[in-house]
Amino acid sequence: MSLTNTRAGYGWAAILLHWISAAGVVALYLTGEAMEEAAGRPARLAAMGQHVGLGVLLITFLAARILWSASQVRPAPLEANRLMRRLADLVQFLFLAMIAVQIVSGPLVVWSNARPLDVFGWFAIASPFPVAVEWLHEGAESVHKLTANLFWPLLGLHVLGAVKHLVIDRDATLRRMLWVKRAA
Ligand code: HEM
Repeated sequence: MSLTNTRAGYGWAAILLHWISAAGVVALYLTGEAMEEAAGRPARLAAMGQHVGLGVLLITFLAARILWSASQVRPAPLEANRLMRRLADLVQFLFLAMIAVQIVSGPLVVWSNARPLDVFGWFAIASPFPVAVEWLHEGAESVHKLTANLFWPLLGLHVLGAVKHLVIDRDATLRRMLWVKRAA
C-alpha cells in the first residue's frame, strides 16, 4: 500500500482526500443552496449555521486535497485522445480552483461582518476584523455566489468523463481512484 502517487496509480492519501472532499463539497453545495432557498430569517440562519460549521470542519481536508494534488506525481493518463486529456485536465484544475476560491471567500463573508465563524456552537473562530468592512463583505459574497455557479457544470463534466472511461473505454481510470494499484 503506497501513501504517495506513482506513475501507475494514486496513493491512498490522494484517494482518501479525493472522496472526503467530494462528499464534503457536495454537502457544502447543498447546504449553501438550502440557505438560499430558506423561507424566512430563522430558517436561513439555521441553514447558514450548517453550511458554515461544515465548511470550517472541511477546510483542512479541502486545503490538504489541493496541496497534496499539487505536490504529487500524476499517474499516467489512460485517455488516448489528446483533446479529451486536455479537457479532463482543465476540468480538474477548475474544480480545485473553485474549491480554493470558496474556502477563502466563504470565511471572508462572515469575518468581514466582524462576526466569528461558529462551528455548531462547539467552538468559534474570531474575526480578524474588529469592525465590519462593507466593501470586503460585498466582494467576498459576490465572488462566493458567482463561483458556486460553476459547481454543477464542473461536477457534470467530471462525472461524465469517469462514466465514459468505465462504460466506453473500460479502462482503470475510475478503478485507480477507488483503491491503490501496486507499482509495476
Ligand atoms: C467548496 C466549498 C463551498 C461551496 C461549494 C459553497 C457553496 C455555497 C453556495 C451554493 C451558497 C449559496 C450562494 C447563493 O446564495 O447564491 C453559499 C453561500 C455561503 N457560503 Fe459557501 N460554499 C463553500 C464553502 C464555504 C465555506 C468554507 C464557508 C465558511 C466557512 C462558506 C460560507 C458561506 C456563507 C457565509 C454564505 C452566505 C453568503 C450570503 O448569501 O451572504 N462557504 N455557499
